[in-house]
Amino acid sequence: MKKILFVTSEVHPLIKTGGLADVSSSLPKALTALGQEVKLILPNYHGLKLGQIPNVIALFRIGRHTVQLLETMLPHSSVVVWLVDCPEFFNMAGNPYVDAAGNAHPNNAERFALFCRAAIEVAMNRVQLNWKADVVHCNDWQTGLVPALLSLEYQCPTTVFTIHNLAYQGLFTGLTAALLQLPGQLLSPDGLEFHGMISFIKGGIVYADKITTVSPTYAQDIQTPELGYGLEGLLIYRDEDLTGIINGVDGDWNTEEDPLIAQNYNSSSLNDKVINKTALQARLNLPIDEKVFVLGLISRLVEQKGIDMLLDCLPELLTLPLQIVILGAGDKEFERRLQQFAAAYPHKMTLIVGYDEALAHQIEAGADVFLMPSRFEPCGLNQMYSQRYGTLPIVRNTGGLADTVVDTLPETIANHTATGFIFNDAHAGTFLEAIKRATLLYSFPEVWRQLQVNAMSRDFSWQNSAAQYLELYESIE
Ligand code: ADP
Ligand code: GLC
Repeated sequence: MKKILFVTSEVHPLIKTGGLADVSSSLPKALTALGQEVKLILPNYHGLKLGQIPNVIALFRIGRHTVQLLETMLPHSSVVVWLVDCPEFFNMAGNPYVDAAGNAHPNNAERFALFCRAAIEVAMNRVQLNWKADVVHCNDWQTGLVPALLSLEYQCPTTVFTIHNLAYQGLFTGLTAALLQLPGQLLSPDGLEFHGMISFIKGGIVYADKITTVSPTYAQDIQTPELGYGLEGLLIYRDEDLTGIINGVDGDWNTEEDPLIAQNYNSSSLNDKVINKTALQARLNLPIDEKVFVLGLISRLVEQKGIDMLLDCLPELLTLPLQIVILGAGDKEFERRLQQFAAAYPHKMTLIVGYDEALAHQIEAGADVFLMPSRFEPCGLNQMYSQRYGTLPIVRNTGGLADTVVDTLPETIANHTATGFIFNDAHAGTFLEAIKRATLLYSFPEVWRQLQVNAMSRDFSWQNSAAQYLELYESIE
């Protein structure tokens, strides 16, 4: 049995901005089910959704800051969560990374440096908890200083760093190094320095014993200039220690038991799925029509997700007999342009700006297809949720989308492996063509039903992926 400290900046259902929160909840649970002892550690943000008041279990200092360690449980699990409480850094409005206006918190470098240092104190058993980690598993740039600083410790635990998204690197001016009092030996170009800046993500990529990313294809993608953001050389150098392990789907996404949808169903009762379609139409004031083709999209509205391609498609798409339901928030300009279309075509398109967990489930259950035209996608979760819900994903051929969706072609229809629609080029035209391909097949109900059954029978359970992580932990000397 390994003692694993899982270091993350968000975890569902306590706080979530994207898929990292889902993984930070599901993977520790799945590792626990494999008999491992996992402790989750994250900052005690003021917006955390905590069921009960957590207990104070330790008190220590990081530099001139006093830190309390609080303990609670991850809801519906036996996973212990440790919260790093330091109100001057984490008791602020907005989400973990940005303020209410969408601007990065100005002291993010100090905030996450303190979080990393606190995680190290805990991992090294220096806070009187009588618990020392065997493995410290870090996630994304917010935790990147952990492997870097741990590398300077005597008898340190082994480290794994998972890249969920290389586009976010935690880059700060060179002056930050002094502000954070980072040890000089970490500051060379072989260490944290990146073109005169300090890169938190390099802390993970340079110093962790093993690096993972969230799909095999993305592990390759980031070794190219197009998606490596200047780190491709380093990633190629570390290729032997870099693996892609695909994410899984949490048990909450289960059509048979989902309490958030109008009608539960499974692959043998797919006729019932339409009740979710009409419930969704009713909720969103769209014309109620069982037959109309409904396209869903749930996403952070950012460039990564190909929202510009969708916008370019909309003028033609909205001439077709279909309905489009979009739930998301992010870039204000994307929100504004999408809203213009929704206002012009109220009987065909609805945009809900915001974050709504229940509606996300209702869209997955009620739509016929799910749009995910990402420019890049490390893994992507919604294309997997969609397949589980018999809602065929239309995705671009990149990263985890390429690894989890099987395109609908004559041979994949014949051998019952087709589960969605894939297009190659990042252009509105090719995206539109894929949507039209789906529309055409939707007019053949028997073929469509078989595609849904194929999709719903895919195994996206966390068990397999957690077993791969465990094997990786055990492979480190
Ligand atoms: P990313 O982490 O890049 O945002 P993923 O596909 O890995 O993309 O995960 C996104 C997660 O966030 C999914 O669970 C998705 O359902 C959820 N999500 C994104 N936007 C919203 C929203 N506006 N309301 C509810 N859930 C959302
Ligand atoms: C990131 C990626 C997404 C991935 C998620 C969880 O936010 O953008 O593709 O699914 O992390 O690993």
